[in-house]
Amino acid sequence: MPTLSFKDRGAAVLAAHCKAIGVNSVVQDSSGNAGNSVAAYCGRAGIGCEIFVPEGTSPKKIDMIKSHNAKVNIIPGSRDNCADVCRAEADAKGKYYASHVYSPFFYEGTKTYIYEVYEQLHRIPENIFIPLGNGTLFIGVVKALEELMNSGIIGKMPNIIAIQSENCDPFAKAVILGERQPAAVTPKPTMAEGIAVGVPMRGEEILEYIYKYNIEVITAPENRIIESRLALASKGIYCEHTTAATYAAYLKYCELNGKTSDCLIPMCGAGLKSDH
Ligand SMILES: Cc1ncc(COP(=O)(O)O)c(C=O)c1O
Repeated sequence: MPTLSFKDRGAAVLAAHCKAIGVNSVVQDSSGNAGNSVAAYCGRAGIGCEIFVPEGTSPKKIDMIKSHNAKVNIIPGSRDNCADVCRAEADAKGKYYASHVYSPFFYEGTKTYIYEVYEQLHRIPENIFIPLGNGTLFIGVVKALEELMNSGIIGKMPNIIAIQSENCDPFAKAVILGERQPAAVTPKPTMAEGIAVGVPMRGEEILEYIYKYNIEVITAPENRIIESRLALASKGIYCEHTTAATYAAYLKYCELNGKTSDCLIPMCGAGLKSDH
């Protein structure tokens, strides 16, 4: 993860695609990490880049985006509003929208997370915990697992548990109600900025997977994110708050269901750029 989050997997493929089709400059919106990755890989590919981030995005993420020569626009309001502003700019000025959420190429990159797990373990763990905001890791993971099943490499879908923020949980609420669309929520501030997505653009598709594979959606207890981050650091993993939220949710899951072993918990955001 050269820019310290899993988004590098998707951005590498997306930037390569942009280069291949002759795109000279792109716009993108992000809570920070995807913007970092797209800025870095566009820099590498010689593609101009402008990133929209919501206010409150950790300053270190913003500094890193700028360091890759991308322009940063800090947008007042929520993550969802930031996406709206970026899309309006792309539409109004005819700019290429290099969205990690919309572009199917991005998911080709995030699929490699599962390929790599299989490559290293020669098997897939029984339980996989996945942070779920816009679902770029979630969709990549499910698609890759489907491929492994279809090619006969694994016999069944593992038990997948998706993690939302307790303060922004459109999927968790939709599942409780049995809805096919994400529930309408009013996001409250959360330390798990990476999953603070109130209006996920691929919501319907994600819910289809959730129902198809019986995926459980749980929320991360906000008041345990800091202690979970410290607990991981004491085990040698200095991760960002969004990643600590996944671990906090895992600990809650074990309290409710008994100790659950053979779990894959992605440590997919490094801590140094989310100290705020
Ligand atoms: C570290 C980290 N984990 C998880 C996520 C959630 O990814 P997604 O919104 O694609 O579900 C993000 C998104 O920015 C992130 O930065």
